[in-house]
Amino acid sequence: MAKEDLSNVREILITEQQIQDRLKILAQEVDEYYQDLDDDLVLISVLKGGIYVMVDFSKKLTTRTLTDYMSLSSYGLGTKSSGVVRVLKDLDIDINNKHVLIVEDIIDSGLTLSWLVDTLRNRGALSVEILSLLKKEIQDEDDRIEPKWLGFKIPDKFVVGYGMDYGEHYRTLPYIGVLDESLI
Ligand code: IMP
Ligand code: MG
Repeated sequence: MAKEDLSNVREILITEQQIQDRLKILAQEVDEYYQDLDDDLVLISVLKGGIYVMVDFSKKLTTRTLTDYMSLSSYGLGTKSSGVVRVLKDLDIDINNKHVLIVEDIIDSGLTLSWLVDTLRNRGALSVEILSLLKKEIQDEDDRIEPKWLGFKIPDKFVVGYGMDYGEHYRTLPYIGVLDESLI
């Protein structure tokens, strides 16, 4: 049986327990924020990486929610995204007049997310907020999109696990690890 090759995962940045503990706190904050909402809160996650956060986070909420998914392809410039986005799979739910919370794995440039926020607002969402498990600390912070709820700030390194991949590998690791720089 082939085993995942972990020799390229240099260090564990955030453990499984740390992720779960942080998501629990964020879920309590989100519940409090939306406590007066009469309607369903629509949770939207971006395939494929976002689903790990979505599943664990949404189970910790008590707010009445609907969940939906989008698959987006961001035309990359090398390892960086360009902000030009194509929809591979659209939402099933009509978000007109709904409050929306985007549940993401990681914000790097934030360009994909900026596009998504604009798109959801244009579809008539009453509000669009962002929860992201991770955000990279980068030099050029100007204009970068801010999540309302953030799990962890991390250094500007390539990470894998808990939904995040390198060439489609390592998504299923339960923790977040730093990939060996020499691979990238
Ligand atoms: P952005 O548009 O530059 O913010 O790119 C965001 C998307 O790129 C994330 O949702 C991830 O799918 C992917 N991404 C960004 N940084 C990493 C990383 O360090 N490891 C794995 N995927 C990443
Ligand atoms: Mg993503």
